[in-house]
Amino acid sequence: PLSIRQRSQPSRWIDCGLEHFFTQPGGVRTSREEQHMSDKPWGGRFKERTSGAVEAYTESISFDGELYAQDIAGSQAHAAMLGRQGVITSEEAKQLVAGLDQVRAEIEAGTFPWRQELEDVHMNIETRLTEIVGDVGKKLHTGRSRNDQVCLDFRLYVSDSLRRWMLLARKLCGVYIEQARAHADVLLPGCTHMQPAQPVSLAHHLLAYAWMFRRDVERMGDCEKRVRISPLGAAALAGTTYPLDPSFVAGELGMYGTFSNSMDAVADRDFALEALFCGTVTMMHLSRFCEELIWWANPQFGFVTLSDAHSTGSSIMPQKKNPDVAEIMRGKTGRAYGNLINLLTTLKGIPLTYNRDLQEDKIPFLDTNKTVRDSLALMADMLGATSFNAARMRRALSAGFLNATELADYLAMRGMPFREAHHITGRAVAMAEEQGVGLEELSLEALRSLSPLISEDVYAVLNYDTAVRRRNMPGGTGPDSVRAQMEALERWLSVPLAWEV
Ligand code: ARG
Repeated sequence: PLSIRQRSQPSRWIDCGLEHFFTQPGGVRTSREEQHMSDKPWGGRFKERTSGAVEAYTESISFDGELYAQDIAGSQAHAAMLGRQGVITSEEAKQLVAGLDQVRAEIEAGTFPWRQELEDVHMNIETRLTEIVGDVGKKLHTGRSRNDQVCLDFRLYVSDSLRRWMLLARKLCGVYIEQARAHADVLLPGCTHMQPAQPVSLAHHLLAYAWMFRRDVERMGDCEKRVRISPLGAAALAGTTYPLDPSFVAGELGMYGTFSNSMDAVADRDFALEALFCGTVTMMHLSRFCEELIWWANPQFGFVTLSDAHSTGSSIMPQKKNPDVAEIMRGKTGRAYGNLINLLTTLKGIPLTYNRDLQEDKIPFLDTNKTVRDSLALMADMLGATSFNAARMRRALSAGFLNATELADYLAMRGMPFREAHHITGRAVAMAEEQGVGLEELSLEALRSLSPLISEDVYAVLNYDTAVRRRNMPGGTGPDSVRAQMEALERWLSVPLAWEV
């Protein structure tokens, strides 16, 4: 029988980007002369043809052509279901499925005759199908409306996008872990307020990002469960009188379930919003790391050297090596925020059910999809190719009294109330600052002049490596804790995602 699931491999769908095609001049034909208004699938009740300006203003083919693979898979599942249910004959269903295969082949070969006057991807494909298979093509839309069709296509597209993001975010987590493993003994100043605070291990710092992207993957996975629900069968808004089998369609397309309310099914765009939010959070995480890379690449920090492949030069200053990739990624994050607000705003005034405003939903999502996808992939590359300068990080530890907390804790452990210990340590810092030295370089006499509780063993406590090594509580920066984190993250990465298997 008809094996649609085979044809609907998510990774393939997303790979067949049509951006290049639609941006080619002449990629979309606009020759209205070739078409009569009666050629429009909805042209029956119209006497005058649509004005060219209106066609150009209302079309969506220039962006929803991106959803062609989902549209075809959805239509094939629908046709197969119509055949099984006896709404059309099984011979007719086979013809429709085969014709749609040919349409897909034409699109992927770049020979498909896209027509702006046919408005959107759905009518372009259906019209071409009818040219290929003849009148039986006109049966495809039985029991279906573009209102439920477009939701199905978009839900599949969003869910495929989420899956792609999840794979890429997991790959990036893997690179953070690799870099953490390679720099297990490297220390650097951990900051709060962008001021030196306490020494931490570089591995711990990098793993903080691995945990963020792991949460992102989990968030996307939760979201995907709500996205991959089939609305097909809701028809225009009220359901239909045909004996359809929505569950069969959902099963064929690898979806988790079907709609519960036909009006909600065609009006709901929460799924796209939620996915946009997931993508936006990921961009925000990437942007925070970009910000760190940009600081760290500055020679005054000198903590990292970005690879030449991920840097650019200046047209006037010959010495420059700029972190442009990180800057552009930080910049694109703003655009992703805009896309989320864009759709939220589009949705806020829309009464039940489908309103044409909803056609605007794809533009922000397509843009965020590309941004998230490309940014995750590029960051994995860039991070893998970044070298970390352990000596510069080590040198930076000596500025900023990163061991002050150690001294305060030392005094508190000897019975001094912590507030007082904090105060005495502050005086030690002032003293060291005056002498232009670190706390560990103050003489024992000087330290004892502040408190008789201090003895020779204080110097071991003031040691930076010791300060890190002692923080082995779960989630701390100590080496045992960091190793446990890496193991936990690696265990998570070794278990494939539910839909991968
Ligand atoms: N191009 C439309 C969209 O993307 C398809 C749905 C049109 N439905 C309608 N009732 N006009 O939303």
